[in-house]
Amino acid sequence: MKNNNWLKWSAYAVAGLIVAGCATYPDQATTKQMAEKMVFEGFTYSAEHKSRLVQDRSQQICSKIGDEKLTQAEAAEVVKLARASIKFPASGKLVGDWKTGDKLAHNGAGDRIRNGKEESRKENGALCQNCHALAPGEINVGNVGPPLTGYGKQRGNSEAIAKYTYEKIYNAWMYFPCSNMPRLGATEHLTPEQITHVVAFLIDPQSPINK
Ligand code: HEC
Repeated sequence: MKNNNWLKWSAYAVAGLIVAGCATYPDQATTKQMAEKMVFEGFTYSAEHKSRLVQDRSQQICSKIGDEKLTQAEAAEVVKLARASIKFPASGKLVGDWKTGDKLAHNGAGDRIRNGKEESRKENGALCQNCHALAPGEINVGNVGPPLTGYGKQRGNSEAIAKYTYEKIYNAWMYFPCSNMPRLGATEHLTPEQITHVVAFLIDPQSPINK
């Protein structure tokens, strides 16, 4: 009998904790709404930069939290939107100058906030090095993405590879919906011409990445 009572009271205690938990913490959707509101309201800089906090349809789909899963239909929509976003350079040439691409790939600069002041750059860097290993032997590289060392050596520099590489940089989500690689062309961080230079850096046999 004593044992039974103990069980009964612990069951009540657990039920109480669960109810208290529900009452204390908002659900996932509300948490997300609150967090997004806080970020938006806390960002007090210019309208130009604040507009970047407005999520487009793909970003809304990809902004899942907790145990929310990307459905197949959502993934397909992100891929479709990514494909529709791609703009090719006016010249039609997808492979530019690898030396310019080399500089861009190693350049992590963009607009930034320093000491509470916005600083605008004339040209954004391509940020690749922040996440990827590039030419062999370089230290101080990121590992958020897979190493790109020997990229062109392994895949060659055919038209198909140039096109894949261009599209991947322009909008990474066309090939991997909601991945952690930024959509560098689609968000206008890089221009189509800048992307052609980075493509050259990746696939040109003369590029240090392929040495
Ligand atoms: C914020 C981190 C980040 C930045 C910046 C970034 N990438 Fe990525 N990249 C990733 C991640 C993560 C993946 C793997 C997921 C995917 O494929 O989207 C990836 C995948 C890739 C792939 C596909 C690899 C393959 O084997 O086909 C290529 C190519 C690539 N990145 C090139 C670049 C280039 C070039 C730049 C600079 C213009 C760049 N990335 C900038 C994170 C990043």
